[in-house]
Amino acid sequence: TNIESGEFTWQSPSNIALIKYWGKLENQIPANPSISFTLDHCKSTTTLKFKKKENPGNFDFDFFFEGKEKEDFKPKIRKFFERIEAYCPYLKDYYFEIHSENSFPHSSGIASSASGMSALALCLMQLEKELNPKIDKEQFNRKASFLARLGSGSASRSIAGELVVWGKHEYIESSSDLYAIEYPHQVHKNFKNYQDTILLVDKGEKQVSSTIGHDLMHGHPFAEKRFEQANENLKKLIPVLKSGDLSAFIKIVEREALSLHAMMMSSQPYFILMKPNTLEIINKIWEFREATKIPACFTLDAGANVHLLYPDKHKDEVLEFIKNELVVYCQNAHYICDQVGDGAKKL
Ligand code: PMV
Repeated sequence: TNIESGEFTWQSPSNIALIKYWGKLENQIPANPSISFTLDHCKSTTTLKFKKKENPGNFDFDFFFEGKEKEDFKPKIRKFFERIEAYCPYLKDYYFEIHSENSFPHSSGIASSASGMSALALCLMQLEKELNPKIDKEQFNRKASFLARLGSGSASRSIAGELVVWGKHEYIESSSDLYAIEYPHQVHKNFKNYQDTILLVDKGEKQVSSTIGHDLMHGHPFAEKRFEQANENLKKLIPVLKSGDLSAFIKIVEREALSLHAMMMSSQPYFILMKPNTLEIINKIWEFREATKIPACFTLDAGANVHLLYPDKHKDEVLEFIKNELVVYCQNAHYICDQVGDGAKKL
Protein backbone atom coordinates (compact mmCIF):
# COMPACT_ATOMS: atom_id res chain seq x y z
CA THR A 1 0.00 0.00 0.00
CA ASN A 2 1.66 3.08 -1.23
CA ILE A 3 -0.78 5.54 -2.72
CA GLU A 4 1.13 8.78 -3.26
CA SER A 5 -1.52 11.25 -4.30
CA GLY A 6 -4.88 11.64 -5.96
CA GLU A 7 -8.37 12.95 -5.43
CA PHE A 8 -11.91 11.68 -4.95
CA THR A 9 -15.27 13.41 -5.15
CA TRP A 10 -18.48 12.29 -3.48
CA GLN A 11 -21.89 13.86 -3.50
CA SER A 12 -23.94 13.19 -0.42
CA PRO A 13 -27.49 14.23 0.47
CA SER A 14 -29.10 15.73 3.51
CA ASN A 15 -31.85 13.78 5.26
CA ILE A 16 -34.97 14.55 7.26
CA ALA A 17 -35.80 12.47 10.32
CA LEU A 18 -39.31 11.10 10.82
CA ILE A 19 -38.40 9.71 14.24
CA LYS A 20 -35.96 12.16 15.80
CA TYR A 21 -32.56 11.69 17.38
CA TRP A 22 -32.16 14.08 20.32
CA GLY A 23 -29.85 13.07 23.13
CA LYS A 24 -26.70 10.99 22.99
CA LEU A 25 -24.32 8.97 25.12
CA GLU A 26 -20.51 8.79 24.90
CA ASN A 27 -18.92 8.37 21.44
CA GLN A 28 -21.89 9.63 19.49
CA ILE A 29 -24.08 6.73 20.56
CA PRO A 30 -27.71 7.81 20.15
CA ALA A 31 -30.02 7.67 23.17
CA ASN A 32 -32.78 6.36 20.90
CA PRO A 33 -33.11 5.01 17.36
CA SER A 34 -34.14 7.34 14.54
CA ILE A 35 -35.38 6.92 10.98
CA SER A 36 -35.14 9.39 8.10
CA PHE A 37 -36.00 9.98 4.49
CA THR A 38 -32.88 10.53 2.42
CA LEU A 39 -33.24 13.74 0.40
CA ASP A 40 -32.40 14.18 -3.24
CA HIS A 41 -31.65 17.81 -4.12
CA CYS A 42 -30.17 19.13 -0.89
CA LYS A 43 -26.66 17.79 -0.98
CA SER A 44 -22.97 18.51 -0.51
CA THR A 45 -20.27 17.80 -3.05
CA THR A 46 -16.89 17.21 -1.49
CA THR A 47 -13.51 16.65 -3.14
CA LEU A 48 -10.68 15.22 -1.11
CA LYS A 49 -7.22 15.80 -2.58
CA PHE A 50 -4.50 13.87 -0.85
CA LYS A 51 -0.75 13.75 -0.99
CA LYS A 52 1.56 11.51 0.96
CA LYS A 53 3.87 13.36 3.37
CA GLU A 54 7.57 12.80 3.91
CA ASN A 55 7.13 12.74 7.66
CA PRO A 56 3.83 11.70 9.13
CA GLY A 57 3.33 13.90 12.16
CA ASN A 58 0.10 15.69 12.79
CA PHE A 59 -3.20 16.12 11.02
CA ASP A 60 -2.39 18.27 8.05
CA PHE A 61 -5.24 19.68 5.98
CA ASP A 62 -6.85 22.77 4.50
CA PHE A 63 -10.54 23.33 3.99
CA PHE A 64 -12.21 25.28 1.18
CA PHE A 65 -15.92 26.04 1.12
CA GLU A 66 -17.32 27.12 -2.25
CA GLY A 67 -13.82 27.89 -3.46
CA LYS A 68 -12.73 29.99 -0.49
CA GLU A 69 -10.45 28.84 2.28
CA LYS A 70 -12.44 28.59 5.49
CA GLU A 71 -10.48 28.66 8.72
CA ASP A 72 -13.49 28.66 11.04
CA PHE A 73 -14.53 25.23 9.85
CA LYS A 74 -11.17 23.63 10.56
CA PRO A 75 -11.63 22.91 14.29
CA LYS A 76 -14.72 20.85 13.45
CA ILE A 77 -12.79 18.79 10.93
CA ARG A 78 -9.81 18.44 13.26
CA LYS A 79 -12.14 17.10 15.95
CA PHE A 80 -13.63 14.69 13.41
CA PHE A 81 -10.13 13.47 12.48
CA GLU A 82 -9.27 12.98 16.15
CA ARG A 83 -12.40 10.90 16.68
CA ILE A 84 -11.84 8.66 13.67
CA GLU A 85 -8.05 8.32 13.82
CA ALA A 86 -8.23 5.00 15.65
CA TYR A 87 -10.27 3.61 12.72
CA CYS A 88 -8.32 5.36 9.96
CA PRO A 89 -4.66 4.98 10.93
CA TYR A 90 -3.49 6.44 7.60
CA LEU A 91 -4.82 9.94 8.32
CA LYS A 92 -1.52 11.40 9.49
CA ASP A 93 0.36 9.98 6.50
CA TYR A 94 -1.29 12.47 4.16
CA TYR A 95 -1.80 16.14 3.54
CA PHE A 96 -5.45 16.73 2.60
CA GLU A 97 -7.08 19.53 0.70
CA ILE A 98 -10.83 19.38 1.25
CA HIS A 99 -13.16 21.27 -1.11
CA SER A 100 -16.86 21.34 -0.35
CA GLU A 101 -19.96 23.01 -1.72
CA ASN A 102 -23.68 22.73 -1.09
CA SER A 103 -26.53 22.63 -3.58
CA PHE A 104 -28.70 24.61 -1.19
CA PRO A 105 -28.08 28.28 -0.46
CA HIS A 106 -25.33 29.01 1.99
CA SER A 107 -27.47 30.67 4.63
CA SER A 108 -30.76 28.88 4.27
CA GLY A 109 -30.88 27.53 7.78
CA ILE A 110 -30.52 24.07 6.29
CA ALA A 111 -27.89 22.22 8.25
CA SER A 112 -25.07 21.00 6.06
CA SER A 113 -23.54 18.79 8.74
CA ALA A 114 -25.34 15.62 7.58
CA SER A 115 -24.50 16.04 3.89
CA GLY A 116 -21.05 17.55 4.47
CA MET A 117 -19.80 15.07 7.05
CA SER A 118 -21.12 12.07 5.14
CA ALA A 119 -19.49 13.29 1.91
CA LEU A 120 -16.14 13.68 3.70
CA ALA A 121 -16.47 10.26 5.34
CA LEU A 122 -17.15 8.72 1.91
CA CYS A 123 -14.07 10.39 0.39
CA LEU A 124 -11.93 9.00 3.21
CA MET A 125 -13.42 5.55 2.67
CA GLN A 126 -12.52 5.84 -1.00
CA LEU A 127 -8.90 6.39 0.00
CA GLU A 128 -9.16 3.45 2.38
CA LYS A 129 -10.45 1.31 -0.47
CA GLU A 130 -7.40 2.25 -2.54
CA LEU A 131 -5.24 1.13 0.36
CA ASN A 132 -7.30 -2.02 0.89
CA PRO A 133 -9.12 -3.05 -2.32
CA LYS A 134 -10.69 -6.04 -0.60
CA ILE A 135 -13.33 -3.89 1.10
CA ASP A 136 -16.71 -4.77 -0.42
CA LYS A 137 -19.64 -2.43 -0.95
CA GLU A 138 -21.44 -3.40 2.25
CA GLN A 139 -18.34 -2.93 4.39
CA PHE A 140 -17.66 0.33 2.58
CA ASN A 141 -21.11 1.77 3.28
CA ARG A 142 -21.19 0.52 6.82
CA LYS A 143 -17.85 2.03 7.72
CA ALA A 144 -18.67 5.26 5.87
CA SER A 145 -21.80 5.55 8.02
CA PHE A 146 -19.80 4.65 11.14
CA LEU A 147 -17.26 7.41 10.39
CA ALA A 148 -19.95 9.92 9.41
CA ARG A 149 -21.66 9.29 12.77
CA LEU A 150 -18.50 10.42 14.53
CA GLY A 151 -18.65 13.68 12.57
CA SER A 152 -22.34 14.36 13.16
CA GLY A 153 -24.92 11.83 14.34
CA SER A 154 -27.49 12.46 11.63
CA ALA A 155 -24.74 12.23 8.96
CA SER A 156 -24.68 8.47 9.55
CA ARG A 157 -28.11 8.38 7.85
CA SER A 158 -26.94 10.06 4.62
CA ILE A 159 -24.99 7.24 2.95
CA ALA A 160 -27.45 4.86 1.28
CA GLY A 161 -31.14 4.22 1.00
CA GLU A 162 -34.39 6.07 0.79
CA LEU A 163 -35.41 5.24 4.34
CA VAL A 164 -32.59 4.84 6.81
CA VAL A 165 -32.48 3.67 10.43
CA TRP A 166 -29.76 4.55 12.88
CA GLY A 167 -29.78 3.17 16.41
CA LYS A 168 -30.66 -0.21 17.85
CA HIS A 169 -34.37 -1.08 17.81
CA GLU A 170 -35.90 -4.34 19.01
CA TYR A 171 -38.00 -4.84 15.85
CA ILE A 172 -35.24 -3.98 13.41
CA GLU A 173 -32.83 -6.80 13.90
CA SER A 174 -29.91 -5.55 11.82
CA SER A 175 -30.02 -2.03 13.34
CA SER A 176 -27.04 -0.67 15.23
CA ASP A 177 -26.06 2.29 17.39
CA LEU A 178 -22.73 2.43 15.56
CA TYR A 179 -23.93 2.97 11.98
CA ALA A 180 -27.10 3.39 9.99
CA ILE A 181 -28.71 0.82 7.72
CA GLU A 182 -31.24 0.92 4.94
CA TYR A 183 -34.68 0.30 6.44
CA PRO A 184 -35.00 -3.46 5.95
CA HIS A 185 -38.77 -3.97 6.11
CA GLN A 186 -41.47 -3.58 3.51
CA VAL A 187 -42.37 -0.05 2.37
CA HIS A 188 -45.69 0.72 0.66
CA LYS A 189 -45.71 2.45 -2.73
CA ASN A 190 -47.45 5.45 -1.14
CA PHE A 191 -44.01 6.46 0.09
CA LYS A 192 -42.33 6.29 -3.31
CA ASN A 193 -41.01 9.70 -4.40
CA TYR A 194 -42.40 11.27 -1.25
CA GLN A 195 -42.08 15.05 -1.49
CA ASP A 196 -40.40 17.35 1.02
CA THR A 197 -40.85 21.05 0.40
CA ILE A 198 -38.72 23.00 2.83
CA LEU A 199 -40.29 26.30 3.83
CA LEU A 200 -37.49 28.66 4.80
CA VAL A 201 -38.88 30.63 7.71
CA ASP A 202 -35.57 31.75 9.09
CA LYS A 203 -32.27 31.53 7.27
CA GLY A 204 -30.12 32.74 10.14
CA GLU A 205 -27.76 30.73 12.29
CA LYS A 206 -29.73 28.93 14.97
CA GLN A 207 -29.21 30.28 18.49
CA VAL A 208 -28.57 26.88 20.05
CA SER A 209 -26.35 24.31 18.34
CA SER A 210 -27.52 20.71 18.18
CA THR A 211 -24.43 19.71 20.23
CA ILE A 212 -25.70 21.83 23.11
CA GLY A 213 -29.24 20.59 22.55
CA HIS A 214 -28.17 16.94 22.77
CA ASP A 215 -26.23 17.72 25.97
CA LEU A 216 -29.27 19.29 27.56
CA MET A 217 -30.98 15.90 27.44
CA HIS A 218 -28.59 14.80 30.23
CA GLY A 219 -30.53 15.42 33.40
CA HIS A 220 -33.63 16.50 31.46
CA PRO A 221 -36.70 15.61 33.55
CA PHE A 222 -38.48 14.02 30.58
CA ALA A 223 -35.47 12.36 28.92
CA GLU A 224 -36.23 8.72 29.75
CA LYS A 225 -39.86 9.05 28.69
CA ARG A 226 -38.82 10.73 25.47
CA PHE A 227 -36.38 7.93 24.60
CA GLU A 228 -39.14 5.39 25.31
CA GLN A 229 -41.55 7.38 23.14
CA ALA A 230 -39.16 7.41 20.19
CA ASN A 231 -38.73 3.62 20.44
CA GLU A 232 -42.51 3.22 20.67
CA ASN A 233 -43.11 5.52 17.69
CA LEU A 234 -40.62 3.60 15.55
CA LYS A 235 -42.38 0.36 16.50
CA LYS A 236 -45.70 1.91 15.43
CA LEU A 237 -44.21 3.21 12.19
CA ILE A 238 -43.17 -0.24 10.93
CA PRO A 239 -46.73 -1.49 10.13
CA VAL A 240 -47.65 1.99 8.85
CA LEU A 241 -44.78 1.98 6.34
CA LYS A 242 -45.95 -1.46 5.24
CA SER A 243 -49.67 -0.66 4.88
CA GLY A 244 -49.25 2.85 3.49
CA ASP A 245 -51.69 4.24 6.08
CA LEU A 246 -50.98 7.94 5.59
CA SER A 247 -53.22 9.21 8.35
CA ALA A 248 -51.37 7.06 10.89
CA PHE A 249 -48.07 8.19 9.32
CA ILE A 250 -49.01 11.84 9.80
CA LYS A 251 -49.89 11.36 13.46
CA ILE A 252 -46.54 9.78 14.23
CA VAL A 253 -44.44 12.23 12.21
CA GLU A 254 -46.04 15.45 13.47
CA ARG A 255 -46.01 14.25 17.05
CA GLU A 256 -42.29 13.45 16.75
CA ALA A 257 -41.55 16.96 15.47
CA LEU A 258 -43.46 18.59 18.31
CA SER A 259 -41.94 16.25 20.91
CA LEU A 260 -38.46 17.24 19.73
CA HIS A 261 -39.29 20.91 20.22
CA ALA A 262 -41.04 20.19 23.52
CA MET A 263 -37.73 18.79 24.79
CA MET A 264 -36.01 22.06 23.88
CA MET A 265 -38.71 24.12 25.53
CA SER A 266 -38.49 22.15 28.77
CA SER A 267 -34.71 21.83 29.17
CA GLN A 268 -32.59 23.81 31.62
CA PRO A 269 -31.81 26.32 30.15
CA TYR A 270 -34.93 26.27 27.96
CA PHE A 271 -35.06 27.62 24.41
CA ILE A 272 -37.46 27.93 21.48
CA LEU A 273 -36.27 27.41 17.91
CA MET A 274 -39.67 27.85 16.27
CA LYS A 275 -40.63 31.33 15.08
CA PRO A 276 -44.13 32.82 14.85
CA ASN A 277 -44.17 31.96 11.15
CA THR A 278 -43.35 28.33 11.95
CA LEU A 279 -46.65 28.17 13.85
CA GLU A 280 -48.53 30.10 11.16
CA ILE A 281 -47.39 27.52 8.62
CA ILE A 282 -48.27 24.56 10.84
CA ASN A 283 -51.79 25.94 11.33
CA LYS A 284 -52.21 26.55 7.61
CA ILE A 285 -51.11 22.97 6.88
CA TRP A 286 -53.67 21.67 9.34
CA GLU A 287 -56.43 23.80 7.75
CA PHE A 288 -55.41 22.67 4.28
CA ARG A 289 -55.43 19.01 5.29
CA GLU A 290 -58.81 19.36 6.96
CA ALA A 291 -60.32 21.15 3.95
CA THR A 292 -58.86 19.04 1.14
CA LYS A 293 -58.19 15.67 2.84
CA ILE A 294 -54.80 15.72 1.11
CA PRO A 295 -52.40 13.89 3.44
CA ALA A 296 -49.76 16.60 3.75
CA CYS A 297 -47.98 16.95 7.07
CA PHE A 298 -45.09 18.82 8.59
CA THR A 299 -41.91 17.94 10.36
CA LEU A 300 -39.21 20.13 11.89
CA ASP A 301 -35.58 19.64 12.65
CA ALA A 302 -33.56 21.72 15.07
CA GLY A 303 -34.65 25.06 13.62
CA ALA A 304 -37.56 27.25 12.54
CA ASN A 305 -37.93 25.92 8.98
CA VAL A 306 -40.86 23.65 8.19
CA HIS A 307 -40.56 20.51 6.08
CA LEU A 308 -43.85 19.85 4.31
CA LEU A 309 -44.13 16.14 3.48
CA TYR A 310 -46.68 14.77 1.00
CA PRO A 311 -47.20 12.06 -1.62
CA ASP A 312 -45.96 12.75 -5.12
CA LYS A 313 -49.45 12.48 -6.64
CA HIS A 314 -50.63 15.59 -4.75
CA LYS A 315 -47.70 17.70 -5.89
CA ASP A 316 -49.62 20.16 -8.07
CA GLU A 317 -52.28 20.93 -5.48
CA VAL A 318 -49.78 21.24 -2.64
CA LEU A 319 -47.49 23.55 -4.65
CA GLU A 320 -50.51 25.70 -5.47
CA PHE A 321 -51.33 25.85 -1.75
CA ILE A 322 -47.74 26.78 -0.92
CA LYS A 323 -47.70 29.61 -3.46
CA ASN A 324 -51.08 30.94 -2.39
CA GLU A 325 -50.88 30.55 1.35
CA LEU A 326 -47.44 29.71 2.69
CA VAL A 327 -44.84 31.78 0.84
CA VAL A 328 -45.89 34.88 2.78
CA TYR A 329 -44.45 33.25 5.89
CA CYS A 330 -41.15 32.32 4.23
CA GLN A 331 -38.15 34.62 4.41
CA ASN A 332 -37.84 36.31 0.99
CA ALA A 333 -40.61 33.95 -0.18
CA HIS A 334 -38.01 31.23 -0.32
CA TYR A 335 -38.71 27.49 -0.29
CA ILE A 336 -36.91 24.44 -1.65
CA CYS A 337 -38.64 21.53 -3.39
CA ASP A 338 -37.01 18.26 -2.54
CA GLN A 339 -38.04 14.63 -2.49
CA VAL A 340 -36.85 11.25 -1.34
CA GLY A 341 -33.55 10.24 -2.92
CA ASP A 342 -31.43 7.13 -2.89
CA GLY A 343 -28.21 8.19 -1.23
CA ALA A 344 -24.69 9.33 -1.92
CA LYS A 345 -22.87 9.01 -5.24
CA LYS A 346 -19.26 8.93 -6.30
CA LEU A 347 -18.53 11.45 -9.07
O1 PMV B 1 -26.71 15.24 13.79
P1 PMV B 1 -26.91 16.31 14.79
O2 PMV B 1 -26.06 16.12 16.00
O3 PMV B 1 -26.82 17.67 14.19
O4 PMV B 1 -28.42 16.19 15.38
C1 PMV B 1 -29.54 16.32 14.55
C2 PMV B 1 -30.78 16.21 15.34
C3 PMV B 1 -32.08 16.47 14.59
O5 PMV B 1 -31.86 16.97 13.30
C4 PMV B 1 -32.87 17.51 15.36
C5 PMV B 1 -32.92 15.20 14.53
C6 PMV B 1 -32.44 14.13 13.60
O6 PMV B 1 -32.62 12.97 13.96
O7 PMV B 1 -31.94 14.45 12.50
